Amino acid sequence: MTIMANAFETAFNARREAFLQRVEADGLPAEVGRYFWYHAIDLGDGLVTPGIFDYRSEWADFALPESFAGASVLDAGPATGFFSFECARRSARVSCIELPSLLGLDRFPGQTVEQSLLKIEHMMFAGDSTGSHSEEELYRLLLEGPYRFCEQRLGVEVNRRYLNVYDVSPDALECDGFDWVLAGDIFVHTLYPLKALAALASVCSGTLAIVERIPGSVEDVPAMLYTGGAVPEQDDVNWWLPNRACLEQLLRKLGFREVREAGRHTAIVQSSGFAVERTVLHASR
Ligand SMILES: C[S@@+](CC[C@H](N)C(=O)[O-])C[C@H]1O[C@@H](n2cnc3c(N)ncnc32)[C@H](O)[C@@H]1O
Repeated sequence: MTIMANAFETAFNARREAFLQRVEADGLPAEVGRYFWYHAIDLGDGLVTPGIFDYRSEWADFALPESFAGASVLDAGPATGFFSFECARRSARVSCIELPSLLGLDRFPGQTVEQSLLKIEHMMFAGDSTGSHSEEELYRLLLEGPYRFCEQRLGVEVNRRYLNVYDVSPDALECDGFDWVLAGDIFVHTLYPLKALAALASVCSGTLAIVERIPGSVEDVPAMLYTGGAVPEQDDVNWWLPNRACLEQLLRKLGFREVREAGRHTAIVQSSGFAVERTVLHASR
């Protein structure tokens, strides 16, 4: 097990180093080398972002169309943007919503902004987190910079809106509804997952694709598991895991007629080899 983890770490560090060398050799802005890359994204010409998740060869696991020609897609909480850019490459008209600021990230009652930012800083810089980065800098290095850099390199145009998921509505997005709404690992970061689910459902006229850990089966008692722990200032910005029966009932109650498990996906943390088993749930109108 330890040997595997070391092999992952070594390979990850080598990819990171190769990327940094390209940033320098190509004369790209130095800040690009400081971005936090959530996804591995192929930017062409041998340049691949050293993402902590690499879904490039795993498209089939998500049971999404090979081509989105004529379809609209909303990518909710895109991070570095793998799904946005892959859908655009597959001919979708893509929109995304991202937090306007890290201050909008949910916090457990009593947690302070400083504690929240320190958690983010720790995720981004590990042992190097000193609380010395401002909110604006963390936001730029984590969310805005990497997404915009990839968008520009790929020559893709995404309708990027800065909106908390709770505030999503047809009026806010000036739309009648998207053919596809993609919700990958966003509900786990919400204290009020039903509110977030209902907001995304309100702009989905086709299929809502949820990718996250979904424990249990449809036969279980519908329940949400609490994952936030008992230490006031600490958690992974994760609080709730609705089980399969709970999600299915909520989705049906929100007006989705068909809810099905469309696939399974194993997300591997590239820097450690740690694997997270996730379910792909498709809910259709
Ligand atoms: C774990 S990443 C998931 C990235 C991508 N969707 C995927 O599946 O690989 C979570 C994303 O959700 C965003 N996010 C978290 N809370 C949010 C909220 N309340 N409103 C909007 N976006 C949020 C984060 O900024 C980030 O882009």
